[in-house]
Amino acid sequence: AGIVEVDLRPIRVGQNFTVKWRSKPVFIRKRTPEQIASARKDDVIAPSMREPATDAERCKKPEWLICIGVCTHLGCIPQPDAGNYGGYFCPCHGSHYDYAGRMRQGPAPKNLELPPYTFLDENTVKLG
Ligand code: FES
Repeated sequence: AGIVEVDLRPIRVGQNFTVKWRSKPVFIRKRTPEQIASARKDDVIAPSMREPATDAERCKKPEWLICIGVCTHLGCIPQPDAGNYGGYFCPCHGSHYDYAGRMRQGPAPKNLELPPYTFLDENTVKLG
């Protein structure tokens, strides 16, 4: 379906939850305070990133990272909670993403893409 509503209540703090949207995996991560701090700390070195973006530009609510779970190199599905920046690691050719889904190291050319999304209320997000 083009539009998916996701109930956020079952997602635990720190968990990376995957849903299908337009036949792609979408990662919905409920970030811990440490993960948010880690991503924000790296905002200051954003100019050294391949595709600079601040954490706030990537996450509408600090607690939630919502991004498409497809590596921007050749389309593998990255593993959560792995890699040199903690967020995601793509094992296909070794791309590392941080807790904001920003590309930090490896062959991938771009950050993990952000789907269009809207928070309908405290516990529900709409994708699409
Ligand atoms: Fe992810 Fe190549 S597909 S690093």
